[in-house]
Amino acid sequence: MDRIELLASLAKDSNVLLDVGCDHALTIIKAIKNYNVKKAIASDISIGPLMAAKKNIENNNLIDKIKIIQSDGLKNINEDFDTLIISGMGGYLIKDILNDSLNKIKNKLLILEANNNRYILRKFLSDNNFKIIDEYAIYDNLKYYEIIVAKTGNCNLTEKELKYGPILMKEKSKEFIKFYQDKINFIDSIINTINDRNKKKLKLEEKEEYLSLI
Ligand SMILES: C[S@@+](CC[C@H](N)C(=O)[O-])C[C@H]1O[C@@H](n2cnc3c(N)ncnc32)[C@H](O)[C@@H]1O
Repeated sequence: MDRIELLASLAKDSNVLLDVGCDHALTIIKAIKNYNVKKAIASDISIGPLMAAKKNIENNNLIDKIKIIQSDGLKNINEDFDTLIISGMGGYLIKDILNDSLNKIKNKLLILEANNNRYILRKFLSDNNFKIIDEYAIYDNLKYYEIIVAKTGNCNLTEKELKYGPILMKEKSKEFIKFYQDKINFIDSIINTINDRNKKKLKLEEKEEYLSLI
């Protein structure tokens, strides 16, 4: 399953799915066609992606099921929805979008895929009364992705869980293990080229931490 398919599948059976930063609306179209999502809102800050989204939606005969809204985050979204997807953006941007609309995301299912700074995103969720209920690690076109599913609730995460993902750490999927094994292999391949004692020590500590995960 590729990244878009997995995101769409996680929204299964939603009544109204909101995709913020929908780009070409590929996730929403898949969610409606394959995963029993009844209606959706395709939203993006830029008009270019929304034009492409509109074309794709029309080509799939889904104009009666998908509303298109130009919006910075959720600022122009006044419609009701039960599931929110924000994917393919940096962790800080996703956190800022969520933080700007805290009242709108309460009690919604959040499906989040940050391509960096996932610590920041998990910290935001745990500090703002959201519970991480599922996590997925996948490779798509050789690139590693993590998807976080959260909903309103409490979770007290350790520093290590914030860094690596509470569920990912527990489940140790083969993708998660590969990601950290590759990092360990890389450290092994360069460790003897590091002359600075402190830098070498830090790299070895990093390796120990990765070893503890897999
Ligand atoms: C790299 S694309 C990711 C597209 C898709 N969500 C995915 O996962 O493949 C990021 C999209 O987010 C949009 N975007 C960036 N900042 C945004 C914001 N503040 N609010 C809404 N959309 C935003 C961009 O215009 C772009 O279409």
